[in-house]
Amino acid sequence: MTATYTLDAGEIRKQFPFFQPHPEMRSVIYLDNAATTQKPYAVIEAVSHFWAHHNANVHRGGHGAGAKASELYEAARARVAQFINAREPAEVVFTRGTTEAINLVASSWGETFVNTGDEIIVTEMEHHANLLPWMRLAEKRGAHLKVWRITDDGRLDLEALDRLLTERTRLVAVSHVSNVLGTVNPVAEICQRAHAAGALCLVDAAQSIAHMPIDVQAIDCDFLAFSGHKAYGPTGIGVLYAKRALLETMPPYQVGGGMVQVVRWERLVWAEPPAKFEAGTPPIGEAIGLHAALDFIDSIGRDAIERYERELTEYALQRLQEVPDLRLYGPIPDRAGIFAFTLGDIHPHDIATVLDTRDVAIRSGLHCAHPLGERLGGATARASLAIYNDTQHIDALIDALDEVRRVFGLARA
Ligand code: ALA
Repeated sequence: MTATYTLDAGEIRKQFPFFQPHPEMRSVIYLDNAATTQKPYAVIEAVSHFWAHHNANVHRGGHGAGAKASELYEAARARVAQFINAREPAEVVFTRGTTEAINLVASSWGETFVNTGDEIIVTEMEHHANLLPWMRLAEKRGAHLKVWRITDDGRLDLEALDRLLTERTRLVAVSHVSNVLGTVNPVAEICQRAHAAGALCLVDAAQSIAHMPIDVQAIDCDFLAFSGHKAYGPTGIGVLYAKRALLETMPPYQVGGGMVQVVRWERLVWAEPPAKFEAGTPPIGEAIGLHAALDFIDSIGRDAIERYERELTEYALQRLQEVPDLRLYGPIPDRAGIFAFTLGDIHPHDIATVLDTRDVAIRSGLHCAHPLGERLGGATARASLAIYNDTQHIDALIDALDEVRRVFGLARA
């Protein structure tokens, strides 16, 4: 069967040095995009150009270089606001990544507004980044952590959420796309139900930001977090989006330079958001790299990316289901391009090791989602797609899985 695909991933790979031959590296079929994506030349050059020609600290020096660096840094913030359709750039706080963004909310908002007997709802499919801050907050504040269990096919049942919500619920914390199951959660409906019960809603968009359009006003989330490095951008840069009214009421997360207006022995006046939440020198070059990454994504088009990755996901699902002894986790067919699986009783680390000998890179283990791993029965192997993957990569994965079966004696004689 020959299918026609709506994007030419081979052309897209030309924009990435990682996929060009290099004496220091073997050529790899890279299927670990849920862990981190590769970086296009445009991002590497934007960061390098900044450090080579415009490097200075932001919002401090009176000199021209500082003014230029500040202008580029704030342009990156405005670009993020436009990318997610925030109402204004001030709703975008730069962090080190998704983890820091969610810790910021749990510490600042949580320790101010969550009290003894209050409830926080998390789903059973959360990554530790959207789980541990809430577990710790609940313990600190004497609040209850309620777990929204998944269905056997790895989805969230909205009626089950309605049964969990009470007048004591302060927050529902949910991932947009599961980093293990590939489930795409209906975050707008979840936020709507949380709001109807008087709770706020936080969306972990780490696994969705590079793969589908995201509009924070349409979702109507109160908080949304993502990382640059899973969206073709640098590590060390992430985003916390929060509604302006919430940022106004939240105390600083960290204190130090750049986040304060008045410092007297008897009085402190914090800066306005977002500066209030960006103590110390921020990740300036990384923010500029993120700007270039968002430009790269939009140069392909988020609708086109979503459509192509859906086509590739359908192909991958079809091929994976042909592999004897392979058990695939998560919803079928309606899901993102993240595929956790086991193969007979072969340990997932052994699967990944044999695949590596065939130059196919995947992740194995519990994927920083231990409660979900427990529900699934242990570790899994995980392949995850990005815009530069194509059907040949899926075919190479399937061939390499045949090799794993042969090595471990599962293959038919
Ligand atoms: N959160 C990343 C993953 O799921 C690291 O692999």
